Amino acid sequence: MNRKSTLLILLAIAGTVAFMRTVGCGSARTARSFAAEKVYVPPGEHDKYYAFLSGGQSGSVFVVGIPSCRLIREIPVFEPRAAYGYAVHEGDPRRQQLIDTGGLWGDTHHPALSETNGVYDGRYLWINDLSNARLARVRLDYFEADRIVKIPNLQGAHGIAVVSPDTKYIVVNGEFEQPTDGMVTNPAPYTSVVAFVEPDTMEVKFEVRVPGNIDIADTSKDGRYSFSTVYNLEQGKDMGGMIQFDRDAVAAIDIPLAAKNAAEGRGHVRNGVPILEPAENPGVLTLIPVPKNPHGVNVTPDGKYVIASGKLSPTCTVIDTHTLKIVAEPEVGLGPLHTTFDGRGNAYTSLFLDSQVVKWNIEKAVKGAPDYIVDRINVHYNIGHLQAVGGASMKPAGDYLLALNKLSKDQYLPVGPDMPEDQELIDISGEKMKMLASFPTPPEPHDAEFIAASLLAPKVKQVFEPGRDAVAAGRESVVRTGPHAVTVNMTMIRSAYTPDHFEVKEGDTVTFRLTNVETMRDMIHGFALPDHDLNLALPPGATKTVVVAAGKPGVYWYYCTNFCSALHLEMRGRMIVQPKDSTVAIPDWKAAQNVQGTVPGVPSTGAGQ
Ligand code: CUA
Repeated sequence: MNRKSTLLILLAIAGTVAFMRTVGCGSARTARSFAAEKVYVPPGEHDKYYAFLSGGQSGSVFVVGIPSCRLIREIPVFEPRAAYGYAVHEGDPRRQQLIDTGGLWGDTHHPALSETNGVYDGRYLWINDLSNARLARVRLDYFEADRIVKIPNLQGAHGIAVVSPDTKYIVVNGEFEQPTDGMVTNPAPYTSVVAFVEPDTMEVKFEVRVPGNIDIADTSKDGRYSFSTVYNLEQGKDMGGMIQFDRDAVAAIDIPLAAKNAAEGRGHVRNGVPILEPAENPGVLTLIPVPKNPHGVNVTPDGKYVIASGKLSPTCTVIDTHTLKIVAEPEVGLGPLHTTFDGRGNAYTSLFLDSQVVKWNIEKAVKGAPDYIVDRINVHYNIGHLQAVGGASMKPAGDYLLALNKLSKDQYLPVGPDMPEDQELIDISGEKMKMLASFPTPPEPHDAEFIAASLLAPKVKQVFEPGRDAVAAGRESVVRTGPHAVTVNMTMIRSAYTPDHFEVKEGDTVTFRLTNVETMRDMIHGFALPDHDLNLALPPGATKTVVVAAGKPGVYWYYCTNFCSALHLEMRGRMIVQPKDSTVAIPDWKAAQNVQGTVPGVPSTGAGQ
């Protein structure tokens, strides 16, 4: 082979490689590199957004960093969690609220962020428990739930929404229709109510009766209307009976008028809450007919339109939020469920049956232009909710969209018949959508909300502010408060409990008042007591009060469950339980009167102060 032919062959090979790079595996690699770069957040650097995903049957809220898709925190809300010391002991007011309102589990669906002047203010996140008709409020300075309330007169608390622009109320929809008076003997068709909850007191101020099953909620941007999709206007009591009509409705409730009528006593008070009957309160409820068993309802960022997704119809219905008239009904694909926005005039609708997100131009659809569909992207699989950053607010960021898919099927390593839930992050900054990443979670996120890290992170506290019941360092004590009652006022700091031992008698009731006196973020200590059904975590500054029976005679080591220092394993102490008939004198651990707190037994977890 001469030099010239060798050169030609080399040039040919180089050309083929270059060609492959441009069109074949090369373009796949470019797309991958693009996606990887978009979601890569180097170790030690922070994400741009917090995403709050409802945890569904986990009864919690998942906090994920975007764009990295890293799980930063699970906020247990309706389910106690020893790892966070949340609602695991009787002294925790949230535990009692859970017991009083329906149980130690929940089914969370829709996170809703507090707003001031139409933008998120980083104060609260509300989350519903569909099953037990509850609403919980999460403080975003501590990332802990602080109040849980039962919503009376409704079953299946499904859609919730914050009333824009200033969080006047939280709207809670009752999905499962009930006899009007709650009596099983009442033959009248079942109905339900939309509840309006005051955000600071968490009191249900009034409810409005609506026929049918009230599904998803949103509100107009000016505080005038709440919008709820309603299916089963047939008022059927089985699946066949619920899908007879071609149109159900969007229920628009005039909030100021309803509040005024309720204040004037025009409601029928049931379980302490006035219920407004539409027939007696003209103008309060408007039913706008939309096809068919509609699901999602979403107000555009500019407040002009509310869009209902047809579920059993391949259409979305665009309604003018001021006239309440339908202005367009564009066809978008099969099984439209929810819609979100990029702030550039585009809507993104999830298509459950098509397993797609469809991007469409709202004004083009309203004008009847044939080219209103902009793009489609496949998702994996059977998408439910979707949410763009700020899509539910007046200021969408237009950069990322999260698809919350109901089935992951083949997307992850098999883990048994029950596969994880699947979320996918999509780049929506350009004309075409681009798939960036997917991440699994436990069951089952329904919906998500985003908030900018630059807004929220500075508001997050480093330590709990010590409550009035806190035990101060140097003021620990063991106090006999009765013939069979002992209170142990204990502090914990790296790497010791004070006291590190004490003695009680069989038959005693032991009250632990525990304070983590660390003043540094992330210095959590645990307090587990073997054979006493007790395991608590105490974040820095937190105080928890818990009562246990002393139990059988023996030596019980309380120990730290959170790895805190090189002496973590040595961080433990003894509860010595003497037999009932023991004649050995129990030594005084320290004098009894040196406790800072003045209200023994007042629980404090930091949250709710
Ligand atoms: Cu304290 Cu480990």
